[in-house]
Amino acid sequence: MNNLPDFPWDRLEPYKERALAHPDGIVDLSVGTPVDSVPEVVRNALVEAADSPGYPFTHGTKALREAAAGWLRRRHGVTVDQQDVLPLIGSKEFVAWLPTYLGAGRVVFPELAYPTYDVGARLAGAVATASDSTLALGPERVDLLWVNSPGNPTGRVLPTEHLRKVVSWARERGTIVASDECYIELGWEEEPISILHPDVCGGSHEGLLAVHSLSKRSNLAGYRAGFVTGDPVLVKRLLETRKHAGMMMPAPVQAAVTAALADDAHADAQRELYAARRALLRPALEQAGWQIDHSTAGLYFWASNGQNAWDQVSKLSEIGILVAPGEFYGAAGGRHIRIAVTATDERISAAVRRLQ
Ligand SMILES: Cc1ncc(COP(=O)(O)O)c(C=O)c1O
Repeated sequence: MNNLPDFPWDRLEPYKERALAHPDGIVDLSVGTPVDSVPEVVRNALVEAADSPGYPFTHGTKALREAAAGWLRRRHGVTVDQQDVLPLIGSKEFVAWLPTYLGAGRVVFPELAYPTYDVGARLAGAVATASDSTLALGPERVDLLWVNSPGNPTGRVLPTEHLRKVVSWARERGTIVASDECYIELGWEEEPISILHPDVCGGSHEGLLAVHSLSKRSNLAGYRAGFVTGDPVLVKRLLETRKHAGMMMPAPVQAAVTAALADDAHADAQRELYAARRALLRPALEQAGWQIDHSTAGLYFWASNGQNAWDQVSKLSEIGILVAPGEFYGAAGGRHIRIAVTATDERISAAVRRLQ
């Protein structure tokens, strides 16, 4: 296990201390953790299923799988059979273990990326390559390629044509494509598309997996709730392995997820909250000298004032605002910071005042 990277967040501690010392308190925009309430419809479903003494199914209830398939059809124009839905205990565990499940020898992920893609490759003892260009990968076999649209940390949306090319490149080589779609409901200036949409994959899900999370859409980060779907053969293999490994979503959480996926009203209301926070914070950052790159979807502003990332982190910590340096997500992030919009309206307003 000693090939794992140091947990980078420890390096933010001194800046956190400084931000905490602000007389009006810290505005913590360094992590993408939800701060608004768990929707009532979801909480009620959890409570109603509280008396669940027996073991849950690794495959989840049929109701959960049907709710997931229904949500994908309704909101994203994707058709999957309910049998091909597999619940996850939050999507992070799956990102970390997928290369091991697949016995992958080489894993490729974006140059600026959620760090767990790299961690997953390392846990599997695989060769990890950060690359945005399939052309640059050379002739060696790639077992697993991650895409993430809308992306963390950049908020970038991959166009349909780009995803189509990735799918055909992968199919020519027998590479599995895993698409992390945890921000798919949060398109602002651009509309994200799923890897499983017929315009991308031509109607066949062969070799493709789409990974979804309830954390952001439904404020369920604390419940640990997600699912994967796609290639029926792959999903079946993953189900068998996860059964052996005891990777079961708790039964009350299954009930909560079923309710969350069947209801769009709470997700639409949550979107509005994030849209309003973005609309306040963006101009304040721009007036204070930051340029926002990409960030057309998702929960982050990918910003730069041209300085080294740590100088930017330091500067903002002096006015009590904590953000993440871009280099946490890859060497290409050395001059950017990632600013999450996951803070309360009150804290976002405080940040806006301090930036003036
Ligand atoms: C790109 C990406 N994938 C996966 C996750 C994990 O989400 P969860 O484990 O809460 O489903 C996150 C969390 O922020 C993320 O940014």
